Amino acid sequence: MEKIHIRYSSGAVDHYFGPAFDRLLSLCDWENLFIITDKNISRLYRKQLERYRVIEIEPGEMFKNQQTADKVILSLIELGADRQSFIIGLGGGVVTDLTGYVASIYKRGVKFGFVPTSLLAMVDAAMGGKNGVDVGLYKNMVGTFRHPDWIIIDPFFLHTLPDEEWSNGFAEIIKHAVIHDEFHFAELESFELTEFKKQKDLINSMIHRSVSIKTGITSNDEFEKGERKLLNFGHTIGHAIENKYNLSHGHAISIGMVAEALLSTRMAGLSQQDFERLEQLLEKFNLPVNFNFDVDDIWKLLLADKKIEGDEISIVLLKSIGEPMIRNVPLRELRTSLQQLNANK
Ligand SMILES: NC(=O)c1ccc[n+]([C@@H]2O[C@H](COP(=O)([O-])OP(=O)(O)OC[C@H]3O[C@@H](n4cnc5c(N)ncnc54)[C@H](O)[C@@H]3O)[C@@H](O)[C@H]2O)c1
Repeated sequence: MEKIHIRYSSGAVDHYFGPAFDRLLSLCDWENLFIITDKNISRLYRKQLERYRVIEIEPGEMFKNQQTADKVILSLIELGADRQSFIIGLGGGVVTDLTGYVASIYKRGVKFGFVPTSLLAMVDAAMGGKNGVDVGLYKNMVGTFRHPDWIIIDPFFLHTLPDEEWSNGFAEIIKHAVIHDEFHFAELESFELTEFKKQKDLINSMIHRSVSIKTGITSNDEFEKGERKLLNFGHTIGHAIENKYNLSHGHAISIGMVAEALLSTRMAGLSQQDFERLEQLLEKFNLPVNFNFDVDDIWKLLLADKKIEGDEISIVLLKSIGEPMIRNVPLRELRTSLQQLNANK
């Protein structure tokens, strides 16, 4: 099984690429192991999970909150989990974010590992050490920076992934390409979603590429002092609309990327041609490029953004595909791009 060791200033993470269930038993002592997963995964993988102690959560972003974290913590107490226990988050980004958070605070911290099962979690959510939960409509308002001991990326799980979740995963893959690598972007332009679903080698190499972009950036700048901010492209507006309109993360980020690219055409010299390339690529992967929302409602949520200082926000803009920049932008410009997005039909 392929293994990559990633060093962060606060610790190291082993990434394994290959069959997860074969690997689990050699990585941890199963007598003191607890798996957190959601009800969709536990139903689909019931047989493989038979021998483990499993704590199930309800699927979906609306359950990524403190109430679910408390329920999981109570289950851990009832099952006798102690400070030597090991916790595995097996699932999409909701499960990995919540598991990392619970493991970071349970008895002041226990060891944990991730087995991401959605494409989005394989290429993004499981890596980088950010864990947390939402508070009401506010995304990831509470959380920790803490890395798992290891992550097993096993594309086998993708055979049960619903079509919409494939698209959601490609939202983050496209984001990685657009902020980092014009060649990677052009490669995505040259394939159809159905080709990625059918050709294992193709999707495996895309996952590897995206993982290396995310781990490269987060290991250089673990605590988001500089370069890591680039990963927030599309997320300022994306996070503001996601919970308010009950959108999937990938859909929200897709709309957010279009809005922030519109802002880039006005403030960073992004060409109309590059803007259209981004829109077309998102559409090709069945992702939305516009959305009708109430600007005042979204504005209230945006004002809670951690990146606002005074009347400016630090935001990622594109000079061109593959060439991002971080700029302080007046809040009124951000509001204009929201209005433009509503009109972008
Ligand atoms: N921590 C980070 O750095 C980071 C980065 C990006 C996203 N995120 C977070 O990740 C979350 C989104 O992740 P997501 O898109 O995986 O959402 P998710 O966890 O809600 O999973 C989406 C759906 O797919 C189902 N699913 C997952 N794997 C499956 C499989 N193999 N077969 C069948 N069904 C499967 C889940 O049950 C769920 O219904 C958001 O909360 C977002 O904030 C975190």
